[in-house]
Amino acid sequence: MTCIKKIGILTAGGDCPGLNAVVRAVSKNALRHGIEVVGIKNGFDGLVRNEVLPITSDTVSGILTLGGTILGTSNIANPFSYTLPPFGSAEEPKDLSAVAMHNFHENQLDALITIGGDGTLHMSQQFVEKGMPIVAVPKTIDNDLSATDQTFGFDSALSVATEAIDRIHTTAQSHHRVMIIETMGRYAGWIALRSAIAGGGDIVLIPEIPYNDDVIVNYILERKSCGKTFSIVVAAEGAKNEAGEQAVTRTVAGSTDPIRLGGIAYKLSDMIERRTYIESRACVLGHMQRGGTPTAFDRWLSTLYGAKALDMVLEGKFGYMASFRNFGITEVKISDAISKLKRVDPHGEEVRAALEVGMSFGSAQIG
Ligand code: F6P
Repeated sequence: MTCIKKIGILTAGGDCPGLNAVVRAVSKNALRHGIEVVGIKNGFDGLVRNEVLPITSDTVSGILTLGGTILGTSNIANPFSYTLPPFGSAEEPKDLSAVAMHNFHENQLDALITIGGDGTLHMSQQFVEKGMPIVAVPKTIDNDLSATDQTFGFDSALSVATEAIDRIHTTAQSHHRVMIIETMGRYAGWIALRSAIAGGGDIVLIPEIPYNDDVIVNYILERKSCGKTFSIVVAAEGAKNEAGEQAVTRTVAGSTDPIRLGGIAYKLSDMIERRTYIESRACVLGHMQRGGTPTAFDRWLSTLYGAKALDMVLEGKFGYMASFRNFGITEVKISDAISKLKRVDPHGEEVRAALEVGMSFGSAQIG
């Protein structure tokens, strides 16, 4: 056992349901061991600006079910390429990692628990290489980390997307329309695929399987000729056509992934209405998928992750991430966790099941 008197905890990257549940589990376990806990505000930004929040049992009482994060977060503050004023700018990013290291020591922290997705893990690994003792917890609605069976936040986003599909079904049916529902997920199609399966979508478009407009149009017209006067298309924000084109809304300087995807639902809706003469509407779920209370599964998973992360700190497992495998929590090196994104296997059993119940991926190459 390492001698740990004080730890820091931060939440970084895009927020998601379950962050507070992890903060609570880490803090409760730490306070039980007589360890002092401070929250670092707004992800790694708080380490650069030295903004901290002392955590007591009162601070974490009643937050298990609360969405968002009581610590605040940032998906643009990167101490290794800092763009935020007054210390940096988009034109002239600065390496302020030494400042962050200094503030870590200034606060007399013995360890830091970082809760975040792919970008946070990359920064955590860079700090580990500089000698900061870090244990990481995997978060993201995208579920795109290969080193864990599931990230917390994903189940909550999936249930929002599925409920949306259910609700859109009735209006699509009433108006005899094609409805296109756009989900988040970045470069992975997990939210789109699973919600489309769970919600009975007709067409699902994911980044892993390039789509073709002709296939989409023919599928919808074929449905119509069979008497199905409406269709539900679930499109991942990162879906690509066969030319490799994606819908990009903006770029964000400083972010570990500066591209923000979005808007594919509008493009598809125009194309489908123009080519099928069936009225079409787009519905972009957006940040609704990241808000609100976590599902029971995410509260459970977040609590297991948080409790384990503190155990790992006590065991001196620095440079490691808590990982969910076969319904238990284990650990994996952060460096291994960032080596590969987890994406949908076009030849895997989920895609096969979707095809077997008659869904289309908008592609003639598969199935
Ligand atoms: O990674 C989580 C996520 O919600 C992605 O699904 C999405 O592409 C991105 O973050 C949106 O980022 P922002 O909150 O900066 O718009």
